[in-house]
Amino acid sequence: EPATTAGPAGGAPTGPTGGAPGGTAVRLPDEAELAEGGLRLELDGAVATVTLARPERRNAMTFATWRALAAIGRALPPEVRVVVLRGDGPSFSAGIDLSMFSGGEGGFPFGADDATGDAFIAELQEGYTWLRAPEIVTVAAVHGHAIGGGFQLALACDIRIAAEDAGFCMKEPALGLVPDLTGTKPLVEIVGVNRALELCLTARTVDAAEAARLGLVERVVPSGGLDAALEELTAQLLAVNAEAAVATKRLLLAAPENTLAEQCAAERREQVVRLRALAAAFRG
Ligand code: ACO
Repeated sequence: EPATTAGPAGGAPTGPTGGAPGGTAVRLPDEAELAEGGLRLELDGAVATVTLARPERRNAMTFATWRALAAIGRALPPEVRVVVLRGDGPSFSAGIDLSMFSGGEGGFPFGADDATGDAFIAELQEGYTWLRAPEIVTVAAVHGHAIGGGFQLALACDIRIAAEDAGFCMKEPALGLVPDLTGTKPLVEIVGVNRALELCLTARTVDAAEAARLGLVERVVPSGGLDAALEELTAQLLAVNAEAAVATKRLLLAAPENTLAEQCAAERREQVVRLRALAAAFRG
């Protein structure tokens, strides 16, 4: 049975994206909805693992995939602190399912007016934006190909671990598209405008070693070593004070937009709350 999540106070939603409008309870996608999106979801206490599970299509993603991801984000149980994204089979993800362009799986809204096209893409982007929520730390475990929307899914996560056989490719411009699944901002923040341009406009594949040099991945592990690496990283993340982790992620995510003075003020605000909580804990 899919879990139904309702917040502690008056049924307020608890997922990192704040749940459904109007404060109605939200629920995780059921098995059929996950299967339609080519996803598997495993909840194990503080760790949720989302697996792209269409290996016969190299985990190509459909609109149903992105809608199911968004639904997971809306309904994630509040005890979840770490969300892992990974892929079954030989590749993390081959990006958008190319049948989308030929009318398969509901088809792309070619010829839509601006407002309709905008709303359509905004809904798909929701599948990625919740991964930035301060309440969770998100980890992409990448092996094999991470292409287009697959690369962008990894970019939407806080930490990327790559197996030595991983390859990252922003394929969209080669197909006449732009990367539009929230990837351009983290890409530029990590590698800078010029390197981002070079990567996107050549649509070349970056291997794991180069990805590490560019800061696109935080850890590189031997092929087949992702399970052990995830176990170690997850244990490290969960060993840190939960509230401090949330406050620190909030602070770090705000840093690029803030002036030094604004960021110093934000540090003070967060720390005053931390100090009060620690003092209360010491007093028992
Ligand atoms: N959409 C739909 N089907 C796909 C996709 C995809 N993106 N990627 C792979 N498949 C299918 C293949 O058609 C093939 O199907 P078949 O068994 O019926 O022939 C099957 O998955 C296996 O693919 P292979 O190409 O045989 O696997 P291989 O490991 O040799 O290559 C690779 C993997 C490199 C990922 C290759 O399949 C590929 O280049 N795929 C297309 C990538 C792409 O252009 N994605 C879009 C990016 S843009 C965006 O995401 C917005």
